[in-house]
Amino acid sequence: MKVGVIGCGNICGQYLEYARQFGGLEIAALADLDRERAAAMAERFGIARSGTVDELLGGDEVELVINLTIPAAHAEVALRAIEAGKHVYGEKPFTATVEQGQEVMAAGKRRGLALGCAPDTFLGTAHQTCRKLIDDGAIGRPVAATAFMIIAGHESWHPDPGFYYAPGGGPLLDMGPYYIHALVNLLGPVQRVSAEAGVQITPRTITSEPKRGQTIDVETPDHITASLQFEDGAIGTLVTSFAGQHSPHDAQNPITVYGTEGTLRVPDPNGFDGPVYLRHGPDGEDELIESAFAHPNGRSLGVAEMIEAIAAGRSPRASGALAWHALQVMHAALMSSEEGRRIEVPHEIERPAMMDADAVVSA
Ligand SMILES: NC(=O)c1ccc[n+]([C@@H]2O[C@H](COP(=O)([O-])OP(=O)(O)OC[C@H]3O[C@@H](n4cnc5c(N)ncnc54)[C@H](O)[C@@H]3O)[C@@H](O)[C@H]2O)c1
Repeated sequence: MKVGVIGCGNICGQYLEYARQFGGLEIAALADLDRERAAAMAERFGIARSGTVDELLGGDEVELVINLTIPAAHAEVALRAIEAGKHVYGEKPFTATVEQGQEVMAAGKRRGLALGCAPDTFLGTAHQTCRKLIDDGAIGRPVAATAFMIIAGHESWHPDPGFYYAPGGGPLLDMGPYYIHALVNLLGPVQRVSAEAGVQITPRTITSEPKRGQTIDVETPDHITASLQFEDGAIGTLVTSFAGQHSPHDAQNPITVYGTEGTLRVPDPNGFDGPVYLRHGPDGEDELIESAFAHPNGRSLGVAEMIEAIAAGRSPRASGALAWHALQVMHAALMSSEEGRRIEVPHEIERPAMMDADAVVSA
């Protein structure tokens, strides 16, 4: 399928690089508000066409748009692409607000177009291996999970880190999608959320160039602890923080799933691969589990899977509905803390199906 990319910033190169692995996915055109940025990226990756968003959406060549714009533009660009009759796969978060998410979901449904969204890391070989272990009963019935994303914040390296500490930023909206998608893949949808969130460290001093020495007032929680009640019964603890000086010692495996017969250590959901450890029985020791899947990893995997889904007339696994669910879970956590109550989350989505061992075409 011919695919166009809108938004040629930081993350775009990774998509274009890894897209080459997938036979059914051909990047045909690039667009950006900044035409020169799109042209430079097209030249670097040998892509024939680049130009404005209108030019990309105007033609019939492109059937699917990858939306790699900034979060504030996700909804507007997705709605324009849907209006032009294109399937849309977006970067996280699904949209900046819950209301925008609803609008994009409704527009996709109305036009009968497929919606997909990152993070797709849960489709990676490591996370699918974890999924297979759970479905095969390796840990018995899952009863609980913990997930920890604890870092010091981005002011030590990002050239312009202020937006991470403004409303719409914060560690939950920035990193939560990776963890929530991974947990829903393993445990199913979330039914209810309660949380405590606070601004733990303010102001922040920027130590990266070019704004070294400037300070940032933190205006959104920089530490959020959420309890997630999963529909199937498991209870999760999700901690996202820009207020920890050191990551937990097992940063490589920040998610643990506890079952009635064993424990699973799941690799960092910000990556597609990594070590999977299973401990079985009361006296068991961590056993390193070999991957049960061999498909290519890397950003674009979710798009390649979505193209297969469209051809087969089914929903994509890294679906807009999943990303929309994750957005509602995150907003429910922030609301729960603000209002001091538990929040019910609409959870009509299904757990995405496990990857087929032979799925996702490689080039
Ligand atoms: N940078 C990363 O490491 C990273 C990792 C994972 C996910 N993401 C996500 O990817 C998305 C893009 O991030 P980025 O770091 O590449 O951002 P970026 O700011 O580097 O690039 C965004 C690009 O989109 C363009 N753009 C903005 N609004 C537009 C519009 N209305 N129409 C056309 N073009 C528009 C900008 O000109 C810019 O070139 C974000 O949603 C982010 O959350 C980024």
